[in-house]
Amino acid sequence: MRILFTGGSGKAGRHAIEHLVECGHQVTNVDLVPAGIAGVPDLRVDLTDAGQVFNALSAYAHRDELEAGTGVPRYDAVVHFAAVPAILIRPDNETFRVNALSTYNVIDAAVKLGIAKVVFASSETTYGVCFADGEVRPEYIPVDEDHPTVPQDSYAMSKVVNEATARSFQARSGIDIYGLRINNVIEPHEYATKFPAFVADPALRRRNIFAYIDARDLGHMVDCCLRTDGLGYEVFNVSNDDTSVGIASAEVYDRFYAGVPKRGDLAEYGTFYANDKAKRLVGFAPQHSWRNTIDPTAAV
Ligand SMILES: NC(=O)c1ccc[n+]([C@@H]2O[C@H](COP(=O)([O-])OP(=O)(O)OC[C@H]3O[C@@H](n4cnc5c(N)ncnc54)[C@H](O)[C@@H]3O)[C@@H](O)[C@H]2O)c1
Repeated sequence: MRILFTGGSGKAGRHAIEHLVECGHQVTNVDLVPAGIAGVPDLRVDLTDAGQVFNALSAYAHRDELEAGTGVPRYDAVVHFAAVPAILIRPDNETFRVNALSTYNVIDAAVKLGIAKVVFASSETTYGVCFADGEVRPEYIPVDEDHPTVPQDSYAMSKVVNEATARSFQARSGIDIYGLRINNVIEPHEYATKFPAFVADPALRRRNIFAYIDARDLGHMVDCCLRTDGLGYEVFNVSNDDTSVGIASAEVYDRFYAGVPKRGDLAEYGTFYANDKAKRLVGFAPQHSWRNTIDPTAAV
């Protein structure tokens, strides 16, 4: 597929693009800064500017596309990852403005240009646990896509708004728009640098609902969404099957979630961030557990 990918110069996007290229897709990266990935053209675009977005989505991606003499090819799909990816990076209002406006611009342009699929990055933070003032516990565990999304912070608010934007554009157009409620993205090298501390102190992972998503498995999830047509509007939790801490999930429950209603059984190290819907509807099958990468008992 010919894919326009936004935010491919960032942490998650870089891995996702590499996976999509391995899968045979032809990818253009659209970002404020270039990624420099071999074989992937970079186009510098400020996605808060609708004119730039419409232009980028309807332009040649690289010189080879001039050769056929048949005009500008249409993108088959847009994957929209660009964002201010958390609070405390930019002022709250700017985080909200950039994220809400860029997502509106990207989906509006995709719909009006006849692009049949949009996959966009939402977030675990929509569930209101991650950036809450003080401790907010989930209403039930495992947290699935039916859990309320009433966050307190501007970043997560922008993601909830983006989901509403996407849902409305899908209702008007009938195209496929899939939102990914991505958990904390972990790059392969971060297992060695971060996880021993998580083993030593599981409380460090409370705000992430004790979950994580391997950056390569996130790339696989994007590919699953590109390959699966006809779902209309859907949101998917995206996480690995296991938790990001060393203790068993029953102990995590006793220490952090006592009294929180349980919906379903937990495997020994099973995630509190349900990924069953992604498995069921698009064939998501994560491969990269941290437990196969470092010694899961090696605390620092
Ligand atoms: N990293 C995580 O743990 C995590 C978790 C959940 C959701 N997400 C979401 O996944 C996506 C990617 O996150 P990331 O960690 O790779 O973030 P990142 O900051 O590393 O990458 C985001 C990219 O977006 C680009 N960008 C920002 N504003 C732009 C604009 N106006 N126009 C064009 N490009 C712009 C940046 O230059 C950057 O390269 C984001 O939507 C983020 O909210 C990330």
